[in-house]
Amino acid sequence: MAGFDVKTAFSVAGKVIIVTGGGTGIGKVYSQRLAEGGARVVLADIAAEPAGKVAEDCTRAGLEVVSFPTDVSSPESVEAMVAQTIAKWGRIDGLINNASLMSVLPRGSWLKIPVEEWDRVMAVNLKGIFLCCRAVHPHMKAQGGGRIVNISSSRIWGGNPNRLHYTTSKAGVVGLTRALAREVGDDNIGVNAITPGFTESETQVASSSSNYVAFKGDGRTFKRAQVPDDLVGAVMFLLSDASGFMTGQTLNVDGGQAMH
Ligand SMILES: NC(=O)c1ccc[n+]([C@@H]2O[C@H](COP(=O)([O-])OP(=O)(O)OC[C@H]3O[C@@H](n4cnc5c(N)ncnc54)[C@H](O)[C@@H]3O)[C@@H](O)[C@H]2O)c1
Repeated sequence: MAGFDVKTAFSVAGKVIIVTGGGTGIGKVYSQRLAEGGARVVLADIAAEPAGKVAEDCTRAGLEVVSFPTDVSSPESVEAMVAQTIAKWGRIDGLINNASLMSVLPRGSWLKIPVEEWDRVMAVNLKGIFLCCRAVHPHMKAQGGGRIVNISSSRIWGGNPNRLHYTTSKAGVVGLTRALAREVGDDNIGVNAITPGFTESETQVASSSSNYVAFKGDGRTFKRAQVPDDLVGAVMFLLSDASGFMTGQTLNVDGGQAMH
């Protein structure tokens, strides 16, 4: 049937994709899998050392991955990363806004959150997405389109307590996704979000005991721990041509905990 090439529709091969926070945790797994799928991947992470190591290891394995250390909350840093990407590969097909302050945040009462910590969470988790979208937009528009995937959290469906700033920022990601999708639709740029459930990323598991509480299976339909690879399929789908007519949507990937 004309119009849909099933052999390439789900592929990310050849696409240039920026993964913010791509040097550790779940972002590292997105980056590795995308590169294994033939994408050219930019790791835009503030953690320069682990990101550089991931890029080196991938390059040694014959994959196309570079690390451009980036603070997503800084307009200058984000613009520099996008300029480096264009200088390297000349285009930007996809952006995964995955960088976030999460595993470093203590869990606790909303009354104990320092105001400076609230502001920093908003600066990274929300302003960072605004800045990255704004920086890639002219390039995606000029090349006739692109795909943006924003990482929210399934916490927003449950209203989970004890990280009020984090949950608030992740709810903001869905609002941003919907409104931005409408603003860039005429540029053929798709903007969608994913809400991952509690995921045993390496950073999550390694974080201090006050930050990490092991999952006990409560309320989940598939009663096992969620791992980063459980999210890869949804991310790749939203970056691929197969999801080309989807925009402004939020996919929940949490093993059937919230029935969104
Ligand atoms: N692990 C979970 O249970 C879970 C659940 C729902 C949503 N999420 C979301 O998935 C994403 C990845 O989760 P994770 O477990 O790997 O989180 P994480 O906190 O371990 O990793 C976040 C990444 O963002 C990077 N980062 C932090 N500040 C940055 C900045 N200013 N500029 C650039 N990079 C920065 C970190 O270096 C790290 O690589 C995050 O958006 C998180 O909120 C995670």
